[in-house]
Formats: sequence, C-alpha cells, structure tokens
Amino acid sequence: MQLKIALLGGDGIGPEVLAQSVKCLKAIEETFNHSFEYVEASVGAVAISNTGKPLPDATLKLCREADAILFGAIGSLEYDNNPDAQVRPEQGLLGLRKELGLFANIRPVKMFDSLIANSPLKEHIVRGTDLVIFRELTGGIYFGKKSISEDGTRASDVCEYTEDEIGRVTHLAFKAAKKRRKKLTLVDKANVLESSRLWRKTVSEIAKSYPDVELQTMFIDNAAVQMMMNPTQFDVILTDNMFGDILSDQGSVIIGSVGLLPSASIGRENAMFEPFHGSYPQAKGKNIANPVASILSTAMLLQHYGLNEEANAIVSAVNESFIKKVVTLDVLGSSKYGTDYVGDFISEHIVDPDENLNI
Ligand code: IPM
Ligand code: MN
Repeated sequence: MQLKIALLGGDGIGPEVLAQSVKCLKAIEETFNHSFEYVEASVGAVAISNTGKPLPDATLKLCREADAILFGAIGSLEYDNNPDAQVRPEQGLLGLRKELGLFANIRPVKMFDSLIANSPLKEHIVRGTDLVIFRELTGGIYFGKKSISEDGTRASDVCEYTEDEIGRVTHLAFKAAKKRRKKLTLVDKANVLESSRLWRKTVSEIAKSYPDVELQTMFIDNAAVQMMMNPTQFDVILTDNMFGDILSDQGSVIIGSVGLLPSASIGRENAMFEPFHGSYPQAKGKNIANPVASILSTAMLLQHYGLNEEANAIVSAVNESFIKKVVTLDVLGSSKYGTDYVGDFISEHIVDPDENLNI
C-alpha cells in the first residue's frame, strides 16, 4: 500500500518521539513491502517563531492532502507562563482538529500484562483493563464562545453542542462497542448541565439502532472514581471534549505512564494520530521521553488503513520491549534506556508474523 504521511513534530519532545515512529514505519515498509511517503510540516510554538502562526497555511494544506497525519506534541512553557499571549501553540492543534473536522478522538486504555507492576494501582484492580474512550473533539467548551470583560475581571467559555455533533461521534462509539464487549457508558453531568442533557437524549435515541449494545450513563465525578476503583467494568466510554480530555489522562494512571498511550483523531476526510501526552518541555533534547505513545499511535494509523497485521507487528514489538524491560525512565522506574535506544529496539523487533511461523 502507498500512503502519504504528514509528520508534525511540534514542540518539546514531539520531534524526538516522532522520529522513533518513523523508524518503525520504515521497518513496516521493508517487512511488509509498502511504500510510505513522508512530508514534514511545522505547528505550535515552533511555527509561531518561524511564521507568526501556530498553524501555518502550508501545514494545513499539506495535512489536507496527506492520507494521514502523525502528530508529536504541542505546548511551550514560555506560553504556559504568559496568560496574556494572544497567539498560543495549542491553537495549532485545536485548529487542525477543527479545520480537518476530526470530530472523534479514540483513546484506548489497555493493560499489557508485562506492565502490571508499573501501575500505581493494585494488580487485581488493573489486570485486564481494556477500555476505549470516544472523546468528542471539535465541539463543547473548547470551541464555544469565549469572552473576557473589558476590565479583565470576568471571563466565560460557553459549552455548546448540537444534536449532529453528538450524533456523529456517538455512531462511531456504538459501532466500536458492537465489535467489542457490547457495552457503552455515556459520561456526562446531566444532573447540572443542559448540554449534558442533550447528550443523554441524543445518545438514548441513537442507542435504539444498536439493540445489542447495552447503554449505561454515569456522571463524570462518579466515572472518575469508578475508573480508579474498577476499570475493568468499562468497555466503550463516550463523552464530550472536556470530560474526555480529563478522563483519558486519568486513565493513563491505570497503565502507569501517560507516555504509553496513543490516540486516533478521525474525521470524514482526514485522520490524525497523536499521543495522549503533552510536549514535556523539561525533557526536550534529553533523550529520556517515552516514544511508545507515538509508536502505538502509528499502529493505530496502520489499523485505520486496514493494515492489521502490520499494526499487530508494532504492538508485539512494543510488548517485547516491555518484557525485556527496554523502557524509558517513566516505566518500571529503573530504566537506563533512552528514547533513541527504545525506538531502535522496537523498530528492530518488527517482524512479519507469517515469516515468524516458518522459522
Ligand atoms: C490532549 C491535549 C490537548 C487537549 C491540548 C494540548 C490542547 O491535552 O490532546 O489531550 O486538551 O485536547
Ligand atoms: Mn489532554
């Protein structure tokens, strides 16, 4: 298969972890006879310094034309510490999601048996965790009207949703649940928020078209507790943009490091693959960042194009790195391995499963 992949390293550790994903993609090309074309573009704080814009027009054009986008990370301390900045790196990522219509962010939280010791939670609680969060990505409080009063003493962010915005991500979540354990949990705050009540109404209506999937509803505060107490009760979690942002980072606690978790952001025309984690500016250039979230995001990219064997080959190589404890500092606490070394190890362990059988 031929694929044109846009590489957007972004800020902080983004380019370093993305470079490890490219090693893996090249190994996949070679092992499975594919031909991928890579095109690089800038976004975030780097793009602001070079062009004044967090999402330059050339980057957006290139992303629209690509078959898929691999995204590194975004954010910079310089802006985090300056609440008055009018142009912010995050606008690059939010702009991409909005402009490309990437309305569904799919965030799997799956426990690898080889990583159980890595979790700060008890083994019997986390063993077998296999849930996936469907986070609505282009609506809600992230994109509602923002305002600040002239004297700067009052500010607001509106959380607005339409039935259509809720419906399209809901259908994807139900379809996924149908193929999984057939349970969907809608997480909201319908006891307080009008927008959450629209979610409940819309999702309950859509649920009628998926009679084999059990629909459960849960308030976000309770869901946060349940996810820590009993994560294996969840199959598919469906939620809005803000709740999904928070709950997915919380989900990474189960696995033990936010550096391990990948995601896919899907629209009608485009798809982008991005780690859960941020730009971790303190680690930039130190060769200590965990490349696994980015590498597993490439596995999701391949899966998106139906390249399931290829995706599995990446996941198996990642698992091998866990078993051999070739991991970065954030995992298992005792590692001496750097970003580059882990990337080399994983890419060198990518094998064609059929050939493996013949050995
Ligand atoms: C994420 C990130 C982003 C978000 C930030 C960087 C804007 O936290 O992808 O979860 O809030 O969506
Ligand atoms: Mn987040």
